[in-house]
Amino acid sequence: MNLETHLSEHDEDVKQVILHVSEVAKKISRGFATRQGVSDSSNIYGERQVAMDVWADELLISELRGSKLVRHLASEEQPDVLTFEDSTSDLGLTIDPLDGSSLIGVNLAVGTIVGIYRGDVLSPGEGMLGAMYVLYGPLTTLTYCLREGVHEFALDDNGDFVLQEENIVIPEGKIYAPGALRRDYLPAHRGFIERLEAEGYKLRYSGSFVADVHQILHKGGVFTYPAYAGSEMGKLRLLFEAAPMGFIVSQAGGAVSDGRRDLLTIKPEAVSQRVPVYIGGKREITLIEGMHKENTS
Ligand code: AHG
Ligand code: MN
Ligand code: MN
Repeated sequence: MNLETHLSEHDEDVKQVILHVSEVAKKISRGFATRQGVSDSSNIYGERQVAMDVWADELLISELRGSKLVRHLASEEQPDVLTFEDSTSDLGLTIDPLDGSSLIGVNLAVGTIVGIYRGDVLSPGEGMLGAMYVLYGPLTTLTYCLREGVHEFALDDNGDFVLQEENIVIPEGKIYAPGALRRDYLPAHRGFIERLEAEGYKLRYSGSFVADVHQILHKGGVFTYPAYAGSEMGKLRLLFEAAPMGFIVSQAGGAVSDGRRDLLTIKPEAVSQRVPVYIGGKREITLIEGMHKENTS
């Protein structure tokens, strides 16, 4: 079954926007060979952009603007939410055009992450209509969730996204993907990581959030980019990374937390807001929340 058929029961504007993003993703997947290297610009987080960051951002913005399917568009690479007055719908999208882009130069898997809202994107993640991500690896895969299961498609030789797995449920598994430097860990987090290691969790961390979470979704365990000494809000962005991936993992039977509460209940105050992230199995998320209650630091 292809993506369009699979989406047929959903609202027309949501269906069309996912199909539109899937078409842009095909172009992005073909764009890596000729766009290696860095750009001469930085984004609002002070991070040096690579050529693909800039190109994928411009492509997604222009194609989504042209589609008239989106009214509000927030991009990780843009300082402000864009509003398209001529939109025929009231959809709001968040995009991380290329997540894990520091790995492009070494040919590891990177992705595109999209959150879908009805109206304002500065809303708690629990109110999302849905979310999706595309992973550019040996295969290009597309995973979407519109509150009715998490479904995965793979781009085939004919250029179609065909169903690979339906109703994905996160299994129990002993993988951990810990961001930040160990020397900067705060006490509760340090205790959490030591506990996982004592239980035999295996380290799997690539530096690409979307790829690392994709692995956790399929194999179980936990990804974390915690608060750390020097950054009490961690590194990852609530709107562009944590909320959409957290929505998908939660819908697959897992959970997402800032270490203390369900991250999807947090109302963003700014598009650039960062948040500590724990995402994965319910068991691991319950464990870190419990450890934070015991140790208030
Ligand atoms: P982006 O490429 O969109 O800027 O995101 C990078 C993020 C995320 O993908 C990854 O988990 C994290 O940064 C890696 O950070 P470290 O290099 O500090 O591990
Ligand atoms: Mn990112
Ligand atoms: Mn990015």
